[in-house]
Amino acid sequence: MALKAKKVVLAYSGGVDTSVCIPFLKEEWGVKEVITYAADLGQGDELESIRLKALDAGASSSFVGNLIEPFIKEFAFPAIRTNALYEGRYPLSTALARPLIARQLVQIARECGADALAHGCTGKGNDQVRFDVAFGALAPELKVLTPAREWGMSREETIAYGERFGIPAPVSKKSPYSIDLNLLGRSIEAGPLENPMTAPQEEVFAMTSSIEEAPNDPQEVEIAFEAGNPVAIDGIQLDPISLIKKANFLAGKHGFGRIDMIENRVVGIKSREIYETPGLLLLIKAHQELESLTLPADLLRSKVQLEREWADLVYQGLWFSPLKDAIDGFVNVTQEHVNGLIKLRLYKGNATVIGRNSKSSSLYFSNMSTYGANDQFDHKSAEGFIYIWGLPIRLWSSIRRKGI
Ligand code: ARG
Repeated sequence: MALKAKKVVLAYSGGVDTSVCIPFLKEEWGVKEVITYAADLGQGDELESIRLKALDAGASSSFVGNLIEPFIKEFAFPAIRTNALYEGRYPLSTALARPLIARQLVQIARECGADALAHGCTGKGNDQVRFDVAFGALAPELKVLTPAREWGMSREETIAYGERFGIPAPVSKKSPYSIDLNLLGRSIEAGPLENPMTAPQEEVFAMTSSIEEAPNDPQEVEIAFEAGNPVAIDGIQLDPISLIKKANFLAGKHGFGRIDMIENRVVGIKSREIYETPGLLLLIKAHQELESLTLPADLLRSKVQLEREWADLVYQGLWFSPLKDAIDGFVNVTQEHVNGLIKLRLYKGNATVIGRNSKSSSLYFSNMSTYGANDQFDHKSAEGFIYIWGLPIRLWSSIRRKGI
């Protein structure tokens, strides 16, 4: 049963579903004013036409905003520092955007004196969880309205409902895929991809070359990090947005960054998703390698466990949570030492680390690691160390041999 609200701020994309939410909220649920907000996250949409579209559909005010900079600085860079990969593979390109959009909607709701927030997510996905939980964390006093989760209309019925209120039916034949995109990547699901045995057609990809199209010559790329943040590519310092764009371009050109996986959604079902996140995956790979060079072994082991936890939290909509904040605190302390350069070779769908260097904080000491003449490692100490290290095993084994 829908909650009663007077003034609602709706997360708006310009698509049919969120457009239909506008008259639906007003006509069916008695909302007086629907204010829309559409975010630019680098997806390449024409924002002014989206802004006008919402007004045509009956919004009382329609806002658009460019969130690319906070998206990269406050959401993507922490994910790189945390080497965040959900289920070991998905770098959260869609998931990272949701808490930022939620934060912006809450701010607008406060500025406009709205009493509710709304989104057009259906009841089957992760994004509804991320929005609802983030709204609750940031503004527990605001109501949350979720028309598309409750209206029970088929796609045809939704389009027909919209047409009654002057919302044009989509002009082009709808692609069979559901696609979410932003500067970090594209998430593609549904249509023929629902059969896990069906290989993705080349048409689903837009940021990465196929193996056939990728250049026949490998390309070396050097990525520099300061305090765990990527700061330069091939010796050129770049601001965070330009750096992501450059990483996307280079990795994408060589066909690196495609993922085809079955993932476990928060709502308990498995879904097949294709991702292409060339730059983000390249930067995480380089960052992981730099940590291998600059962080102590025990710290790395603990960090890996927390990284997995962090990725789960972000996937599951718990960006604004005390556990996530605490892990951020841990990660930030570790990153102070993650300074240096990683060299990778891009070639036909692969990014292979081929070199690493850290002037300030490398823990690789050549006089310890070398097999050459300047070896300073004390070989004799190994004997006593191994005597004690292996002691419990020898004791255990001697008992067993006696058959006790
Ligand atoms: N499964 C991804 C996530 O939950 C992407 C969701 C949106 N995907 C889409 N194809 N519309 O983060």
